[in-house]
Amino acid sequence: MRVGVPTEIKPGEYRVGLTPTAAREYGVHGHQVLVQSGAGLGAGYDDAAYVRAGAQIVPDAETVFSAAELIVKVKEPQAAEWARLQPRHILFTYLHLAPDPAQAEGLLASGCAAIAYETVTDKAGGLPLLAPMSEVAGRIAVFSAAETLLKHNGGMGLLLCGVPGVPPARVCVLGGGVVGANAARMAAGLGAEVVVIERSVPRMRELDDIFMGRIRTRYSTLDAVEEEVLLADVVIGAALIPGANAPKLVRREHLKRMKPGSVLVDVSIDQGGCFETSRPTTHAAPTYVVDGVVHYCVANMPGAAPRTSSEALVHATLPLGLALADHGLDALTLDRHLAQGLNILSGQVTHPAVAKALGKAFHDPYGAWAEQG
Ligand SMILES: NC(=O)c1ccc[n+]([C@@H]2O[C@H](COP(=O)([O-])OP(=O)(O)OC[C@H]3O[C@@H](n4cnc5c(N)ncnc54)[C@H](O)[C@@H]3O)[C@@H](O)[C@H]2O)c1
Repeated sequence: MRVGVPTEIKPGEYRVGLTPTAAREYGVHGHQVLVQSGAGLGAGYDDAAYVRAGAQIVPDAETVFSAAELIVKVKEPQAAEWARLQPRHILFTYLHLAPDPAQAEGLLASGCAAIAYETVTDKAGGLPLLAPMSEVAGRIAVFSAAETLLKHNGGMGLLLCGVPGVPPARVCVLGGGVVGANAARMAAGLGAEVVVIERSVPRMRELDDIFMGRIRTRYSTLDAVEEEVLLADVVIGAALIPGANAPKLVRREHLKRMKPGSVLVDVSIDQGGCFETSRPTTHAAPTYVVDGVVHYCVANMPGAAPRTSSEALVHATLPLGLALADHGLDALTLDRHLAQGLNILSGQVTHPAVAKALGKAFHDPYGAWAEQG
C-alpha cells in the first residue's frame, strides 16, 4: 500500500506521523512511504533521514494525498485536508470529533474511513494510542502550571515546590488516568501536595498502591471537587469519557471562590475541557484569565516536545498502522480493538459516543460494539 505522511499544518504542531525508523518498518512490509518534504523537520528528522529509511520525499501535501491510500498523521485534519480526502483514503490520526462538528462534517462529506487514535482500545480496556501523548501531556502540565504560577506569567507568585519553611503548591488533579497519574507523579516529585479526584474505585486503588501515601485520592463527587478545587493553587483537568465531551467538573461560579492567581491547566481541552470556562489556546498564547484564575488550555501540549512525542507516538501506532497497510480495512475485521478506533466510514458515524455527542445516527459496520449493546 502507499502510505502518505503530510506535514502537520495545525498551528504550533511540529510532530510527525512517522519517524524515519517507522518508515523503514513499513518499507520492510513491502509498502511505499511518501513523506512530504520537510514533514519531519520540526521533530528533528530531515528529508535525507527518510530517504535513508527507504521513503520517497514528495514536494507537497497535494501529492501525498493524491498518491497515498493510507494517510498517517498526528493531529486532526484541518479544513484544507478534509478537502483532499476521498473515499479510497484510510485516515489514521487523532480526531477528537465530539467537540468539533465542523471537522466531523468535513470527514463525513469526504467519504473516507477515519480511524481516531484516541478511541482505539486494548484488551485491558485502555486507550493505547492516546496513552503515549497522555504521558507527555501529563508531565508537561506540571511544568506549565509551575511556570504559570509565577508572577510575571499572571500567577499568584507561588513556587510550586516551595522552599524549606514555606509550603509547596496544592495541586488537584481531576481524573486519575494516564494524564492524571503522570501529572501526579511530576507534581509529587517536585514536592507539591497532590490530590487526585477519580470516579473509578479500582483506579484509585491502583494509584494508592503506586504512590504509597505520597498523594491522596478522593472519589469524584460534586462536594469533593468543590472542596479540593477551592483549596488548590493548581487544578489539572484530566478526566475523560472516551469519545464523549469531557465532564464539566469546574463551573464558572467556582472561579470567584478560588484563590486569585491560581492556575487551571485543562489537558482535557481536546475533548471540550473539564472547566466550563475553558477554550482552546496555543503554545504561542497559552493562557487567559477569567475571574482572576489563569487558564492554560493548550490543545496540543505534546507538540511542545515533538521529538519525544513523535517517537513515543509511533511506538504505539506502528503495529496497528502496519496492520492497516498490510490488510486495508480488513484489518478492522481481524482486530475488534482497532475497529473501535473507526469513527467515520463512507459518510456514517461509526463510534457510539462520537455519534451521541454529534447528534448523529450510529452505525457498527464491523460489529466492534455489538457486545456492548
Ligand atoms: N491537551 C493535550 O495536549 C492532550 C494530550 C494528551 C491527552 N489529552 C487529553 O487528556 C484527557 C485524559 O486522557 P487520559 O489518557 O488520561 O485518559 P484516561 O482514560 O487514561 O483517564 C481519564 C480518567 O478520567 C476519569 N474520569 C472520568 N470521568 C470522571 C469524573 N467525572 N471525575 C473524575 N474522574 C473522571 C476516568 O475514570 C479515567 O480514569 C483526554 O481528554 C485526552 O484526550 C490532551
